[in-house]
Amino acid sequence: ATTLGASAAAKNRYFGAAIAAGKLGDSTYSRILTTEFNSVTAENEMKWDATEPSQGRFTYTNGDRILNQGTSMGAKVRGHALLWHQQQPGWAQSLSGSALRNAAINHVTQVATHYKGKIYAWDVVNEAFADGGSGARRDSNLQRTGNDWIEAAFRAARAADPAAKLCYNDYNTDGVNAKSTGVYNMVRDFKSRGVPIDCVGFQSHLGTGIPSDYQANLQRFADLGVDVQITELDVAQGSNQANIYATVTNACLAVSRCTGITVWGIRDSDSWRTGENPLLFDNSGNKKAAYTSVLNALNAG
Ligand code: G3I
Repeated sequence: ATTLGASAAAKNRYFGAAIAAGKLGDSTYSRILTTEFNSVTAENEMKWDATEPSQGRFTYTNGDRILNQGTSMGAKVRGHALLWHQQQPGWAQSLSGSALRNAAINHVTQVATHYKGKIYAWDVVNEAFADGGSGARRDSNLQRTGNDWIEAAFRAARAADPAAKLCYNDYNTDGVNAKSTGVYNMVRDFKSRGVPIDCVGFQSHLGTGIPSDYQANLQRFADLGVDVQITELDVAQGSNQANIYATVTNACLAVSRCTGITVWGIRDSDSWRTGENPLLFDNSGNKKAAYTSVLNALNAG
């Protein structure tokens, strides 16, 4: 096929992009979005600070714009993210203990209920593991409410929207390393105890290289009985950019439980990585070599 979405669909997968509500009126942006992609993720609009700016008062205007854009395209909508130590509203940052725990679980319940039946997969918890060699949880206000906060969040999300796949999502977990093994051990424990988890997201914010065990890492998680998804892909511009994009695409195609790939933005100028030109379309919306490399990988075989 001739677009990313259609080519991925022919392989029983989706190809998505993170999008921003404020850019939907840009004609180049929306043309590429509707032509090329069959999944969307809200880059910021469904986060805690955006959806519950004051406690118990929920605002879904911009999140709903992302949902409606995806629905009108016939695309899957990934929900991002119910709980995260960043982009919390100020009122939550000033809570602790059971007040914070109750507020966090209420947030999960309310947002997942608002979007019930409309979300393909939720990032229920984002980036809860520490960087470096410990393999341990990251210290955060949420972690200090008790180690069971993650399973409590997953149980609340399942109760609110039984149809959504529930994911754990993180970065620097893209190869076999101490951090990804910490996540792996949590997922194995959840599966053994019946904590509802369906998928693991690998953000894949990559530099000028890719771990040699990238595919093997996806496979070891899939072997635990969860789907895996590439959730926030972008790759530093360099001589290897197109090759790295192809390697990621081929890895997802080689792992039967890898259900799709999301790039974290459309044009280089839309990226959070200012000056790194890490995406598939240039600032003017032209296809880059990395685009052709992904398209060819999706269509091979
Ligand atoms: O919308 C406000 C605007 O009103 C204000 O004037 C301006 C001034 O700072 O800020 C704007 O908000 C910014 C928002 O992006 C929208 O552009 C925030 O400051 C800025 O912090 C925020 O950055 C986002 C970042 O998450 C927050 O940590 C990026 O767009 C977004 O791409 C990035 O995405 C994260 C994923 O959620 C999780 N994984 C890592 C990834 C990259 O950091």
